[in-house]
Amino acid sequence: MDAVKAPAARRTGAVDRLLSLAARDMSAVDALVLARMDSPVALIPALAEHLISAGGKRLRPLLTVAASRLCGGDGDNALKLAAAVEFIHTATLLHDDVVDGSSLRRGKTAAHLIWGGASSVLVGDFLFARAFELMVETDSLRALGILSKASRVIAEGEVLQLTRSHDLDLDQATYLEIIQAKTAELFAAAAEAGAVSAGVDERQVQALRDYGLSLGLAFQLVDDALDYGGTAESLGKNAGDDFREGKATLPLLLAVSRTRAREGAFWERTVGRLDQQDGDFKRARELIVGAGALQSTLDLAQHYAEEAKSALSTFPAQPWRLALEELADFAVSRTA
Ligand code: IPE
Ligand code: IPE
Ligand code: MG
Ligand code: MG
Repeated sequence: MDAVKAPAARRTGAVDRLLSLAARDMSAVDALVLARMDSPVALIPALAEHLISAGGKRLRPLLTVAASRLCGGDGDNALKLAAAVEFIHTATLLHDDVVDGSSLRRGKTAAHLIWGGASSVLVGDFLFARAFELMVETDSLRALGILSKASRVIAEGEVLQLTRSHDLDLDQATYLEIIQAKTAELFAAAAEAGAVSAGVDERQVQALRDYGLSLGLAFQLVDDALDYGGTAESLGKNAGDDFREGKATLPLLLAVSRTRAREGAFWERTVGRLDQQDGDFKRARELIVGAGALQSTLDLAQHYAEEAKSALSTFPAQPWRLALEELADFAVSRTA
């Protein structure tokens, strides 16, 4: 399959302030990630490089760095923790694309289609292990605890999601539990670990954790909306993957409950039994948009973005705080 060209600006202008404040730190984090993905086993750097050099928004390590700097931290431990966070994220992407059967990631052919599912899963394991080595180097048992817990919770979220796919009656509380675990927990942990590395008081650590958690919920809600409303060219991954695998995400669940009287048979066939034909995704997208389900999903994302911003009210209005507030707005307005 031809790889779609990666969009030129994966890092959008909406977070310019944050990117310029963090530019030096983030190039150090990138250098650390590149150095630590190396291994004498040639397949490992080849596969990791394919994904890591394709870019990615680097939002989670950016959170670790920003949280640390907002709290007055100036040490290198935040950089190691940020690199560890990006390794954890990258490992989950390798695993997730195998589980989801996705063919495009960061504008390139998914690694499992080039090297196979086994290689992808095992290199994912390598990246997880690298993350733990980096965390140990910081000598912070607390940060190690935060990110270990996040790694466990992500796995629980992915497994819970797997057991609830095709479920047209999934309740919103369980959906939120899934996205909190599989996505928001790492955003929360990334911010919390950054704060901890700066050695601030518990109130500030908690505020940054709360910020990250709400931001992560907003981020995944928008991801789920973009799977129906976005384009592969801008996303760097295919729209429609969630529908094709019958994933019970909020846009779908809302549309099902709002259109069931008329469209029950369509949803039962395409999602319940995963019996899909050409044109079904287009029809699903029309029903989702028509039922206002995409807009409701984005409204809920906006609600969590506001919660994220208000979690920062304990900090003085200074550039890092403003930059993190802009990041919350970006999570909702993003198209990539
Ligand atoms: C993708 O995350 C996985 C989700 C939680 C939706 P990103 O959209 O942050 O992926 P990259 O790192 O920018 O490619
Ligand atoms: C992302 O969920 C969760 C993790 C990668 C742990 P998705 O399956 O929605 O992410 P994309 O859409 O493949 O990036
Ligand atoms: Mg996926
Ligand atoms: Mg998705």
